[in-house]
Amino acid sequence: MSTEVKVKNTSAEVISSLSRELSSTYLLSIKYKKFHWYVSGPFFRELHLMFDEHHTQLLAVIDDLAERSRVIGGYPAATAEEFIAHAEIKESKNQTYTPQEMVEILYADTDTIINALHRDVELATKDNDPGTADLLTGIVQVYQKQAWFLAETKARKALV
Ligand SMILES: [Fe+2]
Repeated sequence: MSTEVKVKNTSAEVISSLSRELSSTYLLSIKYKKFHWYVSGPFFRELHLMFDEHHTQLLAVIDDLAERSRVIGGYPAATAEEFIAHAEIKESKNQTYTPQEMVEILYADTDTIINALHRDVELATKDNDPGTADLLTGIVQVYQKQAWFLAETKARKALV
């Protein structure tokens, strides 16, 4: 039995999955900041603060994903161009959104990323990389909690 500790997983697939999750998270974090700045209406303060809280949580996720890539021998996406190219969600280009639209957009993006994370946890597990699988599993929980907050907010139709 080998006692060698496996330090690196140089699987190109796992490394590119980290760049994909990082890029999606980066674009979503920018969207949160945009909506933090642009939101208005009767629930301004509540939404303004929630968007910023989620943004801050995603900053930690971004750093963990990028550093995990380096730990296993990769070079994560690290420019705006790369983030746009690798992300599985799109930027929000409009200037005006209602608060309801903002929450719906954020929820849909979060749902996309949660599905991608499930897929990439499986990929890392199949590739015998429990460290990456564990990191991604933890990140799924961050996103699921955010999805809960967004869903509860979205359900309140008077948000307008
Ligand atoms: Fe602010």
